[in-house]
Amino acid sequence: MSSDPDADARRLAAAAGEGDDPNRWFEDLYAAAQRGEAVVPWDRGAAHPLLEWWAGDRLGAQQLPEQSRAMVVGSGPGHDARLLDDLGFVTTAFDISPTAVANAAAALADTSVDVRRADLLDLPGEWRGGFDLVLEAMTVQAMPRSLRQAGTAAVRSMVAPGGVLLVIGMLMPDDGDLDDGPPWLLTRDEIDAFARDGIEFVTYHDEPATDGELVRYLAEFRRG
Ligand SMILES: C[S@@+](CC[C@H](N)C(=O)[O-])C[C@H]1O[C@@H](n2cnc3c(N)ncnc32)[C@H](O)[C@@H]1O
Repeated sequence: MSSDPDADARRLAAAAGEGDDPNRWFEDLYAAAQRGEAVVPWDRGAAHPLLEWWAGDRLGAQQLPEQSRAMVVGSGPGHDARLLDDLGFVTTAFDISPTAVANAAAALADTSVDVRRADLLDLPGEWRGGFDLVLEAMTVQAMPRSLRQAGTAAVRSMVAPGGVLLVIGMLMPDDGDLDDGPPWLLTRDEIDAFARDGIEFVTYHDEPATDGELVRYLAEFRRG
């Protein structure tokens, strides 16, 4: 294990990139973490602070149905799914990594969250338009840029009429290298590109970068 968790992720991603499955490194990373040989760099042990912000500042203004259905894309450790479950959403969460799914299902056993193994690029048909809230936190940016359009379209496909889409990530700096990754950070234009096919932009909120950190953002969209 290296002393830099991001370095573990980059090493595994680079190795996977040489094979035929660019997404294999997620399972490799979760499995290595399970053996104590790596750290999952995005596991902060709690829901994303920007999701907490949205729940406090924006959720009350939404006109979502009773028993709203929420979907968490690339749910990883499952902390965001737990928060949505606590907020009363009937929550489904999915990830491509079987180890992440097994760990999240165990960690969320005291909740009503339904944790599934699925591929964002090959979603079950019944999820189309099926969710009043779709949360995508740092999964599209974790996929190579060549998969960006397909990933963005798949995320938006799950939003029900009147439903809300939240996109959380780290913003590509103006002088950033588009080829550098993972993560392959989204530009502001790529964030705005979620607003297609009936999905409309609502608001954008970010936290100013401090001490060389990247800007973290939450963008909110709605299907009209
Ligand atoms: C950077 S992590 C973010 C995890 C979580 N959303 C969070 O914010 O803590 C990206 C997650 O997406 C998952 N993932 C990557 N590609 C995926 C795909 N094609 N379908 C579903 N999940 C995917 C990875 O296994 C990983 O758990």
